[in-house]
Amino acid sequence: MKDKKRVVILGSTGTIGKMAADVLSKNDEFEVVGLLARKSLKTLLEMKSTFPHAMTALTEELSDDVDFTGSESVEALLESTKPDIVVVGVSGFIGLKYSLLSAQHSKRLCLANKESIVTGGRFFLNAVKSYGCEIIPVDSEHNAIFQLIDSERSKIESIYLTASGGAIRDIPVEALEKVTPEKVLKHPVWNMGSRITVDSSTMFNKGLEVMEAHFLFGFPPEKINVLVHPEGKIHGIIELEDGTFKAFISKADMRIPIEYALLYPKRSYKNEKFDLSGNLQLLRPDPLKYPALELAYECLKAGDGSRIAYNAADEVAVEYFLRGKIGFLQIYDIVKKVVEKGWEKDLNDYESIESIDRESRILATELLSKW
Ligand SMILES: NC(=O)c1ccc[n+]([C@@H]2O[C@H](COP(=O)([O-])OP(=O)(O)OC[C@H]3O[C@@H](n4cnc5c(N)ncnc54)[C@H](OP(=O)(O)O)[C@@H]3O)[C@@H](O)[C@H]2O)c1
Repeated sequence: MKDKKRVVILGSTGTIGKMAADVLSKNDEFEVVGLLARKSLKTLLEMKSTFPHAMTALTEELSDDVDFTGSESVEALLESTKPDIVVVGVSGFIGLKYSLLSAQHSKRLCLANKESIVTGGRFFLNAVKSYGCEIIPVDSEHNAIFQLIDSERSKIESIYLTASGGAIRDIPVEALEKVTPEKVLKHPVWNMGSRITVDSSTMFNKGLEVMEAHFLFGFPPEKINVLVHPEGKIHGIIELEDGTFKAFISKADMRIPIEYALLYPKRSYKNEKFDLSGNLQLLRPDPLKYPALELAYECLKAGDGSRIAYNAADEVAVEYFLRGKIGFLQIYDIVKKVVEKGWEKDLNDYESIESIDRESRILATELLSKW
């Protein structure tokens, strides 16, 4: 029998991590050899019962029940397990460091952590390539565009990412001031971690995805379009030179892109039948409701530092919003102020990227404390 592919899941206790575990538990081509989380010990140990041979690690919690703990545990886990594939399902900027380490220890990153690409940009992609590792995007829109590009031989003119519009989609702009975290956390299409759910309503998430698409697929900002698609069935569209379009349609279930990224270039899975009937709307996003989107294009043109500041300030501001310390609209106000400070354009090493991430978080926190 052929050797099984060895898989490590980083962020195994999160939404993406659990879905990846579910997919992997049903496919005997793979063996889960490592599971890592920050501090969710109970969930991690429950997962260990599904994958008894997996080594386990927690980065921010001490416990004798896991194999590795502390900040060095990611590297220790990767060195000990020697994976073929790493599913990068951690959230936040830390994903950049973990993705770089994973690329040194494996042959494929199934990359859900968009922050790695947004903050690492060209430096990150070049580093991964130099280690002989490939990236298959897991983010549903990017996975869709990846599949469309992979199956197209003619020149692609532009790409379209779809957006749900988040939980505030049908709320008038004048009423947004009063929107609560409870309301925003009820996403109409996807079930996801809290930051990305808030980011879906502000469209900071789509802003990050525009940046991600730019680096992954090499299109200039003006050739990356966003359309609001409330039904959550179309995930990506490509426009060809002859003025025709091809769309990628599937059920809104992250298991589909996760399976694809694990198995590529093969497709050997069977999903439930999906009912395509019903409306399929594609609408231009309202710039007054979603100003974070335009800011993302500005940051993309402004250079490396601005993208890092956009991501970091948003992460800090979302935390404050979730704790009830600021209103929904202030998330954008804070990020805009942090971005406007002006940041270095070209960054070619991890330390410089980390330093801008740190500085922009400090600035966001200072602004928030005086708000
Ligand atoms: N959810 C989705 O449908 C979706 C779709 C597309 C892209 N993404 C992207 O995928 C990533 C994960 O999203 P999510 O929704 O799955 O997030 P989530 O539910 O909040 O889960 C985050 C996971 O990362 C772990 N983690 C966080 N910081 C860590 C650290 N410093 N060290 C080790 N582990 C750490 C958490 O561990 P603990 O449980 O111990 O805290 C948890 O396992 C994000 O970048 C997001 O943008 C998500």
